[in-house]
Amino acid sequence: MAEVLVTGGSGLIGWRVVEQLLEQGHGVVVFDLVPDGENLAPFRDDVEVVAGDVTDLTALLRTAKRQGTERIVHLAASIAFASAAGPARAVADNVISSANVFETALALDVAGVSWASTIAVNETRPDYRGEEVPEDYRGSPTQAYGISKLACEVIAGSYRDSTGLAAIGLRPPTAYGIGRLTGGVGLFNKAVFEVAHGRPGRIPSWDPLPAQPIYNRDMAALFIAAAFAGPQPQAVFNTPVLRSYTAAEICEVLQGLRPGAEVEPEPYPAVIPAPPIGDGSRAREVLGFEPHFTLEQGLAEMLDHFEGQPG
Ligand SMILES: NC(=O)c1ccc[n+]([C@@H]2O[C@H](COP(=O)([O-])OP(=O)(O)OC[C@H]3O[C@@H](n4cnc5c(N)ncnc54)[C@H](O)[C@@H]3O)[C@@H](O)[C@H]2O)c1
Repeated sequence: MAEVLVTGGSGLIGWRVVEQLLEQGHGVVVFDLVPDGENLAPFRDDVEVVAGDVTDLTALLRTAKRQGTERIVHLAASIAFASAAGPARAVADNVISSANVFETALALDVAGVSWASTIAVNETRPDYRGEEVPEDYRGSPTQAYGISKLACEVIAGSYRDSTGLAAIGLRPPTAYGIGRLTGGVGLFNKAVFEVAHGRPGRIPSWDPLPAQPIYNRDMAALFIAAAFAGPQPQAVFNTPVLRSYTAAEICEVLQGLRPGAEVEPEPYPAVIPAPPIGDGSRAREVLGFEPHFTLEQGLAEMLDHFEGQPG
């Protein structure tokens, strides 16, 4: 069993990481700027929650040293809308904070770090035709979010090359689920919430290109696998998914679960441009990860959960 520090551990993916780490018997400290009490409520007695800013190296180091941190899952970030609204904060929250996590890991001999990049480090090039692309595809990002996360990948590579730090970056695609109704993937989650309450839902769309939905339980499992994988020759991995879906297909799945539901695609806002489809085969091979939750299972769990909540 290990002591694991989870930055951003109360967010959409983070609370599922915490849940699974506890189930596996690990010790967990959540380090989060604005800890979400609702997401962490089930673990209130089992987890130490530190309200802290990852851009503050001293605070991060002190927390990690006190815990005796052996692994770090680094999820804290400014996500797409917040990065577009505040690019300077995005540089701090994404780039500086990742460097701080790597410094902390080095200072304390942390055995493994997994950290969140994003599929948005790439946009589609003019010659893109919908094929799956490997990690080294280069489609220059145009948005502050993608650019800041691409900078994280470069910086993580420098730490790995110069120090041998065991840090693995993962590029989540549409990591949906219970835990957040705001931001980019929050549009997806909110559509499910609306359907659960009998109102029209709008699934964000890159049509004609599909999305690669992965349930936050699966995404969390991949972050944990990467944190415990030890040194690997590859620095960054695309995320394996069971299959891709157009927004129209996602609407059909929702209508299959709730017949009569009014749900249709709506284009993503411009700050969330279409990414190419990531080929997740390397994470399957190297990290031994396989997603388990079908879209039907993920959406069914969300609908049941949301139906039990006030609308
Ligand atoms: N969910 C997705 O679809 C998706 C897709 C691509 C990449 N990602 C990446 O995965 C990671 C987790 O995503 P998520 O959906 O759980 O995001 P989220 O916004 O739900 O959670 C992020 C958490 O980080 C915290 N945080 C933000 N700035 C911080 C700071 N300076 N110090 C400490 N905590 C801070 C927030 O309070 C929040 O609880 C992020 O790095 C995100 O960029 C997510």
